[in-house]
Amino acid sequence: MNVSILGTGYVGLTTGACLAYLGHNVTCVDADESKIAALERGEVPFYEPFLAELIAEARCNLKFTTDYAVAIPGAQVVFIAVGTPPGPRGAPDLKYLEAAARGVAEHLTGSFTVVVNKSTVPIGSGNWVGSLVREAFQHSHGRKADGSFAVASNPEFLREGSALHDSLYPDRVVIGADEPQTAEVLYTLYRPILDQTFQAPPYLPRPEELGAVPLISTDLASAELIKYAANAFLALKISYINEIGQLSEKVGADIAQVAKGIGLDARIGTRFLQAGIGWGGSCFGKDTSALIATATEYGLEMPIVKSACEINRRQRERVVEKLLAALRILKGRTIGLLGLAFKPNTDDLREAPALDIAAKLIERGARVKVHDPVAMDRFRREHKGLDVICCESPEEVIQDSDAVVLVTEWPQYRELDWEPLARTMRSAIILDGRHALDRARMTRAGFRYIGLAC
Ligand code: UGA
Repeated sequence: MNVSILGTGYVGLTTGACLAYLGHNVTCVDADESKIAALERGEVPFYEPFLAELIAEARCNLKFTTDYAVAIPGAQVVFIAVGTPPGPRGAPDLKYLEAAARGVAEHLTGSFTVVVNKSTVPIGSGNWVGSLVREAFQHSHGRKADGSFAVASNPEFLREGSALHDSLYPDRVVIGADEPQTAEVLYTLYRPILDQTFQAPPYLPRPEELGAVPLISTDLASAELIKYAANAFLALKISYINEIGQLSEKVGADIAQVAKGIGLDARIGTRFLQAGIGWGGSCFGKDTSALIATATEYGLEMPIVKSACEINRRQRERVVEKLLAALRILKGRTIGLLGLAFKPNTDDLREAPALDIAAKLIERGARVKVHDPVAMDRFRREHKGLDVICCESPEEVIQDSDAVVLVTEWPQYRELDWEPLARTMRSAIILDGRHALDRARMTRAGFRYIGLAC
């Protein structure tokens, strides 16, 4: 099929690469000329494992352009995957979505095109995009758009760092459309994924247990709500285990065992029960705020989701409180932060807990040293105002520090030779913000081990 994708962020580029790999003709569009030029050269604008490899492999099916006039005419499916950054009052800012919808309308040629909302958009956006396209079509073509397009919602559930795996081997595909023929177009597009009939790339093997992928075919509003409800549920699962973690610390329980003990109940599930600093990233914070904002419009409170957000905010403060309790004085101390990205395997710094924690420590007079295996360049570019010392290696962070905080659980940090490193510190204190290190091993290596829930 001929597919165009508007926006080359994590969602747009991953979707484009995967659909091109499946054999569709894909055109990726972005307003940023330098980004498109970089993609033409085979450079991926952010760190995502195997994305460059998949793009290279699917290159013959992929085009990159800044021009809607190239991308829209002849496309059977147009995905809108532009950014919906958080707006001032919790609701996302939809200006890029609006511009994309109008741009599509101006270049539709009259043959049936499905316009798909792939960005996470507030409930009701499907209808809104439909009316924008209709209005702009009439304005630019001087006639009604009847029959030339339909809107669908196809929310994305990929996680940064494992975006390709999640796209090729999803737990489910959700399609929201108000007419059956619209949904049919998307079934055809996703058929190789639904039936798992494509040949798996060698670097992304198909999970052995994976059979056919379930399809949820529903109306627009339900598809839009599924996305928010899923992210909010995952966010509250994390906050729940962090709340239990606080009690676990008080009663002397082992939070890892507690999480396993409850998670093995199939009704609960073991994933997203890793206690620690809590969530960061561009999705959970934004989507929980958006859900609360939507509910407010309907006179609803969402107290559970609000509490999850509050617990998440508190976890970052607890890091500072724990350091203060261990060191008594933070002024003049040197604190090392291992990890800047909001999670391993990405260089994304949006809403990253490390930034917040660094700022709070600086406010209290501490010097802060930082390191991240892949996010240093991006950090230097995007956070010039944060007065920290950038280090080339984790060893440099640890040396002469009064305490070190593991903020992001990169595997290479776990594998450090900790024993000699403990001797290079002013006081060998490790705050394991992700409960990713082995307490007994760290204690043997000479550290005073502090967890967030122990
Ligand atoms: C999240 C969802 O997991 C995806 O399904 C969704 O598509 C995406 O948002 C989105 O809306 O675009 P992502 O934010 O990339 O994906 O990353 P996650 O793996 O969900 O992690 C989010 C945060 O939660 C990270 O900071 C991570 O460290 C934290 N986390 C995760 C925990 O603190 N504990 C856990 O047990 C799991």
